[in-house]
Amino acid sequence: MLLYALAVLLPLSRLYVGASSASCACSPVIIPVHVDVLVPKDPTDVFGGLKSNASALRRVDDTYNIYGVFCEPRIMAPKNVLQLLVHGITYTSEYWSPPVEEFRNYSYAAFSCDRGHSSLAVDWVGVGLSSRPTNASDVQYPTVAAAVSQVARHLKTISILPGVVPFNTIIGIGHSAGSGLLNFGAIVDGAQSPFDGLILTASLISNSSAVPPISVVPPARDVDPLRWGTLDPGYVTTTSRSLLYPADPASFSPRMIILDDFTKDVGSVSTLLQMSTTSLPVPQYAGAVAKIVGSEDQIYCMGTGRCDDVAALTTAEGVLWQAVQSFELTVLPGSGHDLNLDFFADAAFRTYSAFVSKFSGEI
Ligand SMILES: *[C@@H]1O[C@H](CO)[C@@H](O)[C@H](O)[C@H]1NC(C)=O
Ligand SMILES: *[C@@H]1O[C@H](CO)[C@@H](O)[C@H](O)[C@H]1NC(C)=O
Ligand SMILES: *[C@@H]1O[C@H](CO)[C@@H](O)[C@H](O)[C@H]1NC(C)=O
Ligand SMILES: *[C@@H]1O[C@H](CO)[C@@H](O)[C@H](O)[C@H]1NC(C)=O
Repeated sequence: MLLYALAVLLPLSRLYVGASSASCACSPVIIPVHVDVLVPKDPTDVFGGLKSNASALRRVDDTYNIYGVFCEPRIMAPKNVLQLLVHGITYTSEYWSPPVEEFRNYSYAAFSCDRGHSSLAVDWVGVGLSSRPTNASDVQYPTVAAAVSQVARHLKTISILPGVVPFNTIIGIGHSAGSGLLNFGAIVDGAQSPFDGLILTASLISNSSAVPPISVVPPARDVDPLRWGTLDPGYVTTTSRSLLYPADPASFSPRMIILDDFTKDVGSVSTLLQMSTTSLPVPQYAGAVAKIVGSEDQIYCMGTGRCDDVAALTTAEGVLWQAVQSFELTVLPGSGHDLNLDFFADAAFRTYSAFVSKFSGEI
């Protein structure tokens, strides 16, 4: 199935590959993946079909091109560990390396290169420069999670670029709905998961009442008709991103939120609703898991009291991960929902990186 799936160098379609620097060499890649999954016929099914009988499901059998930015240390000898970075909803791979000079130091990819770790930041199916199905109801967690797992399997068997050997260890790092995607993959892949460890940022157990209402993310074609006027209304985007930052405006650069809004993308409404799958048990995934959330996260922590007692939160979250090697949870003081984009990002990067070293047996 993956035999033909060779990564190819793109002609320079994105002229600026954010993280490239003296210590980091970054290249855009495209990885074709074949996905053959069952999705709920009802795209608003919050459990993504996991609780459905066969008559409520339909098959999606398709091949998608997954776009990503692969970054490799130039100075430090690269370790045989790959971090697969998965953005959240209405973001793209640029979440991991903001594409402007002023915010060059907010690049987790560059931060990782300085510590000897390679990364591949992908765009989800339907998002950024990856294939976008015409019908947004094809973009559900079963589809997007299978595509990311296929990318990881691919990187364990085939060289991503000439001269780069396949990776023995792959750690998935998600942000928000990207953590939900990896969580869904851990449920369905179980012990066969290609991920040796998962670092799930900005994602706590969600139910449909915890997920933002649809009014917060209207159809993208209504928000920006010039850019998205022809898209299926099941593709949505944000009108304001302030909930994704700490409430205290002294905690982030006002120019970051402008850039963030300017570079926003779309996501499917199904993948927003299916964040509820983070409330289901993960019976068989056997790798190591860490959750990282910001104390000032306005979606999960602020006003709920939920993040005050870290031990209680760790127990409540960890109980769902029934077969894991380890489960840890960190609440980062000061950080908001977009942990990479505020003034506390450096502490967030150090935390991700420490878990990567631990999960790959380096410390
Ligand atoms: C299957 O699920 C559908 C929709 O949820 C429901 O209407 C139907 O009764 C179920 N069928 C069986 C055999 O459980
Ligand atoms: C980047 O540098 C600016 C200015 O020195 C600083 O305020 C910000 O916190 C830094 N960000 C990271 C992620 O290190
Ligand atoms: C999208 O696909 C679903 C399932 O095949 C179908 O019911 C729906 O009509 C399609 N929507 C559009 C706009 O084609
Ligand atoms: C859903 O989540 C909210 C907020 O976290 C919580 O207060 C509520 O009890 C949850 N409801 C159910 C049914 O789990």
